[in-house]
Amino acid sequence: MKVLVIGSGGREHTLVWKLAQSPKVEQVYCAPGNGGTAALAQNVQIPISDFAALAQFAKDEEIDVTVVGPEDPLLGGIVDFFTARNLPIYGPSSQAAKIEGSKTFAKSLMKQYEIPTAAYESFLDLESALTYVQDKGAPIVIKADGLAQGKGVIVAMTQEEAEEAVRLIMEDNRFGQAGNRVVIEEFMRGEELTLLSFVDGETVRPMVPSQDHKAVFDGDRGPNTGGMGAYAPVPQVNQEYLQQIVETIVKPMASAMVKEEMPFQGVLYTGIMMTSEGPKVVEFNARMGDPETQVVLPLLETDLLEIILASLNGTLADLEIDWSSNSAVTVVMASGGYPDDYPTGFPIKGLAKWQEKKPAARVDDTFVFHAGTKVEDGHVLTSGGRVLAATAWGPSLKDAQQKAYEVVSQISFEKSHYRKDIADKAFKRV
Ligand code: AMP
Ligand code: GLY
Repeated sequence: MKVLVIGSGGREHTLVWKLAQSPKVEQVYCAPGNGGTAALAQNVQIPISDFAALAQFAKDEEIDVTVVGPEDPLLGGIVDFFTARNLPIYGPSSQAAKIEGSKTFAKSLMKQYEIPTAAYESFLDLESALTYVQDKGAPIVIKADGLAQGKGVIVAMTQEEAEEAVRLIMEDNRFGQAGNRVVIEEFMRGEELTLLSFVDGETVRPMVPSQDHKAVFDGDRGPNTGGMGAYAPVPQVNQEYLQQIVETIVKPMASAMVKEEMPFQGVLYTGIMMTSEGPKVVEFNARMGDPETQVVLPLLETDLLEIILASLNGTLADLEIDWSSNSAVTVVMASGGYPDDYPTGFPIKGLAKWQEKKPAARVDDTFVFHAGTKVEDGHVLTSGGRVLAATAWGPSLKDAQQKAYEVVSQISFEKSHYRKDIADKAFKRV
C-alpha cells in the first residue's frame, strides 16, 4: 500500500517511521516532511494548506490512505475535502475537530454531558471578562478561544496577572482572531497526563498514557513550549485510574459527539489534570500529541496501518491492539532561544547512525525523530524551534531515560538546548 502523511514535525516523522514498518506498506510519502522523513519516505513539496494539490497528488499516485498529523488542516476541512473526492483519509472532520479549535465549544459540550473539567465562563467583551476575573480572584486561567499554537493559555497566579492576560488577549490581540473570545477557568492543581485514544464514533481504544513536559527549563520553570520531552507509560497512574478516565471522560465525549451528529474519527487527545477530586479535562485535541507520539508509537506492537484501516472500515472495536511492556522516553533538543526567537541553519553532528535507510522491519531501541530540520547538500541543518526528539525505549523507564540521554550526548549543534530532567517526575513518586 501507499501511504501519505501530512505534516513536517516530530510527530509526523514518528508516524512515517511506524507506518514504514508495516509489512503492508510499500511506499510512504510525507508532505512536506523534514530532514528526517526524507530518509524513510519520499518528501513531497506541497504545503499542508493546499488541499487541492494534496488531493490531486493522492489521486495521481493512487495513495491508499492519507494520515493527517497537525490540527490546522483538520480544522480547515482536509478530511471533508478528501472524503468528498472518495480519497481515503484518517482524521476527524472539520466539525469534529472543533473540539480542539474552539475552547468554548469543547467546554460547553463537557458541561452539557457532565464530563469533569474546570468550571468556566466564556466572554466576548473585555469589561465582563475583567469583572469576572475581579469577582473570582487568582489563581485563575485565561485562554484564547481559538488555535494559538499552544501559547494561548495564561495561568495567572495573581489578580494583576489575570487582568493583564485578559487585556493582552482581548485588547492587544496578542493571539489575533483566536482571542476574540476568551475562556476563563478555575485553576486546577495537580500533575498532568496525556491519554491518546483511537476513536471511531462510539468506539474508544485508549493507548498507553504519557506525560509531556511543557515548560522550557528544568523543574518546569520558564515559559510553555510545544513540549520539551515526554515519557510513557506513566507509573504514577494505575489501571483503575486509567479506566476511570476512559469511562468518565473519553467514552462520554465520544458518545456526546455522536449524539451531536459530529462523530469523531481519528486520534482524540485528552489532556488530564490529576486533581485531588479525580481526573479532570484540561483540553481535548483532535490529533496525536507532539512529543507524546514519539513515546507512544514505539510501544505499539500492532501494525498502525491495520488500526487505521480497521477504523476506516468500521471494525476498530473488534481489532486486538497490543502494547509492549517497555517504557519510552524522548528528550527534545531545541534551538537556543526557543520558544522566543532563535537562530537556525546550524549543521547537526552525530546523526548518521539514525539516518541510514534501514530495512523497514528493523527496529532498534533508540531513534532520533526530526522535528525542525532540513537537508541541504547532504547536510542536516536546524530549521525550527524544536529540532530533534532523541528517543529510547527499554524494559524500565530508568533504562529508557538513561539511553535517551546517551543518544542526546552523541548529537550536537550550535546553541542547542534540552531539559535534563525528562521523566524524573516518575521517580519522585515511587
Ligand atoms: P491547554 O492549551 O488548554 O492545554 O493549556 C496549556 C497548559 O496550561 C496546560 O497544559 C496546563 O499546564 C495549563 N492549564 C490549562 N488549563 C488549566 C487549568 N484550568 N488549571 C491549571 N492549569 C491549566
Ligand atoms: N504536546 C502537547 C500537544 O501536542 O498538544
